[in-house]
Amino acid sequence: MKEPGTKEKLLAFFEENKGAYFSGEEIAERLSVSRTAVWKAVNSLRSEGYEIDAVQNKGYCLSASTDILSAQGIRKYLKPVCSFLELEVLPVAESTNVLLKERAGAGAKEGHVILANTQTGGRGRLGRSFYSPADTGIYMSLLLRPQGYCPDQAVRLTTMAAVAACEAIEEVSGKNAQIKWVNDVYMDYKKVSGILTEAAFSLEDNGLDYIVVGIGINAYPPKEGFPPEVEQIASAVFRTRQSDGKNHLAAAFLNRFMGYYAARDNMDYAKEYRARSLVIGKKIRVISPAGQREGLALDVDEECRLLVQYGDGSRETLSSGEISIRFS
Ligand code: BTN
Repeated sequence: MKEPGTKEKLLAFFEENKGAYFSGEEIAERLSVSRTAVWKAVNSLRSEGYEIDAVQNKGYCLSASTDILSAQGIRKYLKPVCSFLELEVLPVAESTNVLLKERAGAGAKEGHVILANTQTGGRGRLGRSFYSPADTGIYMSLLLRPQGYCPDQAVRLTTMAAVAACEAIEEVSGKNAQIKWVNDVYMDYKKVSGILTEAAFSLEDNGLDYIVVGIGINAYPPKEGFPPEVEQIASAVFRTRQSDGKNHLAAAFLNRFMGYYAARDNMDYAKEYRARSLVIGKKIRVISPAGQREGLALDVDEECRLLVQYGDGSRETLSSGEISIRFS
């Protein structure tokens, strides 16, 4: 990993001391750099959008209302289970999943995380796109290389991610989040987050090579509103700007997810998954390449599979796929 420069050190310092004033001299001393270097780094951060107040006799202060995704801003909330993660935060990526798969192919280690402030080609499930406007969302991909994992076990990581996302949202916003099978996260019956898990297999032994867990969270409503095709079903975690909303949310997700991942043979998380299910007891439509079928969602089992009963009385247990549901 590259040694942090003055700008990175200053950002870490400001993030740890948000809303407090420090003289240029004191900052220079704490970071072991010159006052000119501090001044330059302040200007550089300002040009990236950081609101840094400068008041005579008080010094510099990073405004408490700043909410820009950064490795330094995320790291201050990370728990020890996440200390090995390598965070790469980019202003823009075509798709963080695509980029991380490239990095994985080139040998990136487990725990490499890519976050982007916006995506130009965000990818959703089933070949769909994922709307990824700037400044308002979290677009994040995490690289995992679990040893001795089979594809069935890999599916669990998706459902683990859905539970972790709900818990993170609740921790940071104080509001309830639920899961629409299989891995869409909803608040007040509208989607606020989606998960796309992709796996690569080794050609040599057909074993699992790596997994990329990609998550998109609408932290705030987009400035220009949601596009018409998702306007009716999409929402955001927060209504108004929060101090550290995005960094805290991203870190809370990583803390929760890595906690589950560290104990990945323990299926207890499936109870959480079931308890958060929005679909049990609801009329649903199962969408598959063979067509669409109306049914009743009977239950979610200990492997997070969906048990469906169709109109003719027949039953099916689904481990992946797509359903639609009307909440009105
Ligand atoms: C879905 O709802 O269909 C899944 C959406 C997954 C979006 C995330 S954003 C970060 C990562 N990069 C992508 O291109 N997609 C995932």
